[in-house]
Amino acid sequence: MTLPVIISCDPGIDDAVALALTFGSPELEVLAVAATAGNVSLEQATANAAALLDLLGVPADFPVHAGAAGPLAGGERVPDEPVHGAGGLGGVKLPVSVRPIESDAVAHMAELILARPGEVTLLALGPLTDVAHLFERFPDTIAALGRLVVMGGAVFVQGNVTLSAEFNFYADPEAAALVLERGRRIRLVPLDVTRKAVVDRPTAERLAALPSPAGEFGAMLLDMCNTMVARGRPDGAVMHDPLAAAVVLDESLLSWEAVTATVELDGTLTRGAVVADARGVSGREPNIRYGRDIAAAGFLTTLTERLTGLGA
Ligand code: RIB
Ligand code: CA
Repeated sequence: MTLPVIISCDPGIDDAVALALTFGSPELEVLAVAATAGNVSLEQATANAAALLDLLGVPADFPVHAGAAGPLAGGERVPDEPVHGAGGLGGVKLPVSVRPIESDAVAHMAELILARPGEVTLLALGPLTDVAHLFERFPDTIAALGRLVVMGGAVFVQGNVTLSAEFNFYADPEAAALVLERGRRIRLVPLDVTRKAVVDRPTAERLAALPSPAGEFGAMLLDMCNTMVARGRPDGAVMHDPLAAAVVLDESLLSWEAVTATVELDGTLTRGAVVADARGVSGREPNIRYGRDIAAAGFLTTLTERLTGLGA
């Protein structure tokens, strides 16, 4: 029995590794890949997603759907290219894909979710703009969605874009606030736990020495390791999105805590921050569960094994 999943992503190096993990997992049936603006522009994210699916050997007629080009409230995209390198994939140049690119990712997501009530997991790996549009345009999907697994937020740790905000939430705070407010069965995978999932340089070097396609993913990870060192973070490439993808496969990987969480929209220093009540003082029922800690060993070993096994 495979688990149907829709992926919203902004590839992005860690998004790319998450795509490798999901398409390399026979337990999952990937129904759709929707590209959204975030780490890179919508155009670049869509092209990267298509090229990555080619690299992963996904059938050529499996389309990539294009989603939002910018945040819910308008305005410019928050760039994050420095972290993800030239082209958004660590400078790795993939052949230009001729895979079909479809528009209106949100309508396609709605069709898939409503056709299989309670079954589909939506894995959100970038800004939540498309998920917010989905809930606004097709409100029946909120109850029909089986589960929403979100990589995003910094609940009780420092942010990675500002002192208080994580990139995906900072890039579109209005969307994050709407999704946390209206969504159900939300599993948030925040920086609190993703920062504990780091691929070190020796592992990246070992992968980069392998034949394609593992070699390309290794090269992306090596580029991210170099970027992190340049930023004074010598510990390697943080696997934010792959950890969220692994949660889709097995929630017992993490320990979870139910909290009442909202997203700050107006603070000069705190816009995009998660404001979480873990003690019930807000008088509101918890609306999300967030991944508090790694509860089971083996994620990085499994990830490295699956990347090594690509194309085998
Ligand atoms: O903060 C980490 C998140 O922002 C990841 O999804 C990464 O790909 C970037 O989008
Ligand atoms: Ca991402």
